[in-house]
Amino acid sequence: MGPIGTRTIGPDGAAGVNTELLVVCLYKGEAAPESLAGAAAPALQSGDFSGKEGEMALLYTGEGGNGNGVAASRLMLLGLGERDGFTLDKLRRAAATAAKKARSLKAGEMVLSPRTPHAATGEQAAQAAAEGAALGLYRFRKYKSGIKNKTDETDDEEQSDPGVELLAADDEATASATRRGAEAGEKIARGARLARDLANEPGSTATPEFLAGQAEEISTRHDMGLTVLDRAGIDSESMTGLSTVGRSSSQEPRFIVLEHRGGGDEAPVVLVGKGVTFDSGGISIKPSAGMEEMKFDMGGGAAVLGAMEAVGALGLPVNVVALVPATENLPAGDAYKPGDVLQFSNGKTVEVISTDAEGRLILADALLYAKRYDPACVIDCATLTGAVLVGLGKAASGLMGNDDDLVSEVQAAGESAGERAWPLPLFEDYTDQIESDTADIKNTGGRNAGTLTAGAFLKEFADFPWAHLDVAGTAWDVPLKNPYVAKGATGTPARLLVELLRARSESSNTSQHERR
Ligand code: BES
Ligand code: MN
Ligand code: ZN
Repeated sequence: MGPIGTRTIGPDGAAGVNTELLVVCLYKGEAAPESLAGAAAPALQSGDFSGKEGEMALLYTGEGGNGNGVAASRLMLLGLGERDGFTLDKLRRAAATAAKKARSLKAGEMVLSPRTPHAATGEQAAQAAAEGAALGLYRFRKYKSGIKNKTDETDDEEQSDPGVELLAADDEATASATRRGAEAGEKIARGARLARDLANEPGSTATPEFLAGQAEEISTRHDMGLTVLDRAGIDSESMTGLSTVGRSSSQEPRFIVLEHRGGGDEAPVVLVGKGVTFDSGGISIKPSAGMEEMKFDMGGGAAVLGAMEAVGALGLPVNVVALVPATENLPAGDAYKPGDVLQFSNGKTVEVISTDAEGRLILADALLYAKRYDPACVIDCATLTGAVLVGLGKAASGLMGNDDDLVSEVQAAGESAGERAWPLPLFEDYTDQIESDTADIKNTGGRNAGTLTAGAFLKEFADFPWAHLDVAGTAWDVPLKNPYVAKGATGTPARLLVELLRARSESSNTSQHERR
């Protein structure tokens, strides 16, 4: 993926844009821009193109075609549906559809003119269009043999990604807003694409050590603080959960800490991501059918690292700490067992009922570690329970927490990012459900409300405003009709996290201005 550029419209209007493919987005029933009216007329008049959402018409303008002074060699009309119902997420989807079509046409470049939804700014629209194009073009092909020059992102048919440019009106204000939006969108998409790459990687390559190496690269690129604890470090920090789950694997666990310092002496936002690089279930071993999917069990950690990549690239004026407890969960002679009792560094004792409920054990350590930052808030994301798939399917991440304002803030960030998160309750009853006969609590609560008993477990370790995202349904393999989501890992909730941090940095800037 090359950078996403911008181009300003000249005195000849859209007709003067000289490119291999000009993408014209139209609402339902809308006429084409005046300078393109002649070229678009046959498609519109025939009724072949009406502007319905997702509809596409490809027009050729060369000699013998219906050129009418159009400089672009191809025009793509792309339907956005009703103007009133148009949103940033529909724009993301439209841009993804266009970019993928451009690639299959083997166009070297495309120029797309984004439209701005009612409640949004031109800058936000440019950002969404850039995100959509960059995410839509994502593919994970490094293990496909017969593909030449894989690092250059060309595939077996040598189809490389098209260059993408966004069209802006001629005035300086619009042009610079478009430029800012395109740059931000590209950086955010790069973070989400990194999250996808990490999660798509097989378990035997994406080990805890590998994730730590990735964190190191992010820290070098963006001048962040980095601490990586190995097995000895994890033990000396008394990280009971991570040490116990990681004990039986020959791949050592890691505890990864990345610190972005952009907000002076403000309390940081701490992001926690589950980094189980392969979850076999341990002694409570999973059925073998579908077990390959458990390479995605570090999707939360991957999203947190992807978010940090974007935070660094954007240079956000906020303090952010990322914590990723990373380990495999494998059975072996020295593996932890159902019935074992673990004591965490806050004194709390946990009876292990299932070694397959490992995520909450390693997250508990990370939440306890987060306390030392006196955080403004902590948001954890984890592929934590199969039950969240039963409850919400793949349409939303499960959202829980101990602070209503924070939960609303996370939900709103998910809405603007197109990564939906839906609030679920954490009633006391779920805490009752994890009472243990032997220890203070146990690590499962039975069949009922599995997502919520997991949330109730984490709540025992969250001594600050805290929100929890269960992304077991949304972090991978979402077969929804969304053109910017590829097969495999989705990168969710990397963009949600970035959106939340950006919104925080903007509102803290505003309140500083107000104070002056
Ligand atoms: N990593 C799994 C959760 C999961 C399941 C993610 C399906 C993606 C798809 C987690 O560690 C797990 O095994 N959870 C158990 C908890 C149970 C033992 C209480 C589950 O959901 O079955
Ligand atoms: Mn498990
Ligand atoms: Zn797991």
